[in-house]
Amino acid sequence: MGAEPFFDMHKIYMTPGDGIGPEVMDATRRVMGWYSQNRNFAFDSQEGPIGGAAYEATGTPDPDQTMADAKAADAVFLGAVGGPQWDSLPYDKKPERGLLRIRKELGAFANLRPAICFDALKDASSLKPEIVSGLDILIVRELTGGVYFGEPKGTTVLPDGQKRAVDTQVYTSSEIERIIRAAFELARLRNKRLASAEKSNVMMTGILWREIANHLHKTEFQDVELTHILADNCAMQLVRNPKQFDVIVTDNLFGDVLSDEAAQLTGSIGMLPSASLGARKGEYLPALYEPIHGSAPDIAGKDLANPIASILSFAMCLRYSFERREDAALLDKAVETVLQEGYRTGDIMQPGMNKVGTSAMTSTILKALDRLAV
Ligand code: IPM
Ligand code: MG
Repeated sequence: MGAEPFFDMHKIYMTPGDGIGPEVMDATRRVMGWYSQNRNFAFDSQEGPIGGAAYEATGTPDPDQTMADAKAADAVFLGAVGGPQWDSLPYDKKPERGLLRIRKELGAFANLRPAICFDALKDASSLKPEIVSGLDILIVRELTGGVYFGEPKGTTVLPDGQKRAVDTQVYTSSEIERIIRAAFELARLRNKRLASAEKSNVMMTGILWREIANHLHKTEFQDVELTHILADNCAMQLVRNPKQFDVIVTDNLFGDVLSDEAAQLTGSIGMLPSASLGARKGEYLPALYEPIHGSAPDIAGKDLANPIASILSFAMCLRYSFERREDAALLDKAVETVLQEGYRTGDIMQPGMNKVGTSAMTSTILKALDRLAV
């Protein structure tokens, strides 16, 4: 009979991917190391390839082994995928296939993309500071359905020689219901306001989406205020008056676009983490954490990338996968502190601030953790 462990051992799977993915993942690994030394956070991490890196190593961007190992972990961390050297590969070999498959395999349908404007960065946004200061909104993007995965999908050659390409936007009522329910539940923990964005004026999926939102509101979530907004108007309102929103729920494609837009409100897309969660199976909550920025091939390998989005993804993991709210808040606070102290990577650099690279930014965050933890 073995002794009871003093704390849980968390199984973490890391798949850094391409471009700046490996650098920002290194930063996150260092932060995890700090937590294991200082906060009783025991983890056992394994690493594997995805995207272009996996294509180079194994001939496929979505290796079965990566998928199996990811599914066996308590939490999965992904860096970024993609790069110009793989642009001309056939569709099923492109790096993005790896990302889409891992989301689908994990069943991670609820993609939480918070857009928070740190006070120290309110002048870094391209919008006026009064529009973005204090901004704290959450975009809940459906992640495993819609036009990303709908069939038929493909390109055919027509008898007259021209090509015809088709993507299919498709949602079942259960897919819509589970994402809107998740968004209502998250709104309940915040300011109890949910905006549901679709195009019910032109799309059948939009009509069904609105119907289900109304039904859930009436039957389960009357304490949350529900508004419907057309996705194009939502895009406009996000730059006109973003603070009118609390939680926005939307489909896969609109969520992709609106979350990039929301990211820019916060100063830089290099700041924003994301969590993608699946339906809880007993003790197990499928979860994938990734910065929302891409692989940024132009700055890859140069120690220029902002590691904050990736580091804050670990804060989301502490909060959602391991229910360690205080530890998550500590990390959020450490990031806020270094920003207040004037440390900036190139993407958020402002006059008079202290410009640092990926690894120095990570070191300052670790030092802030040391100071804040005592
Ligand atoms: C994102 C990205 C991905 C997406 C790409 C890289 C496939 O833009 O996570 O937002 O479109 O979902
Ligand atoms: Mg995107």
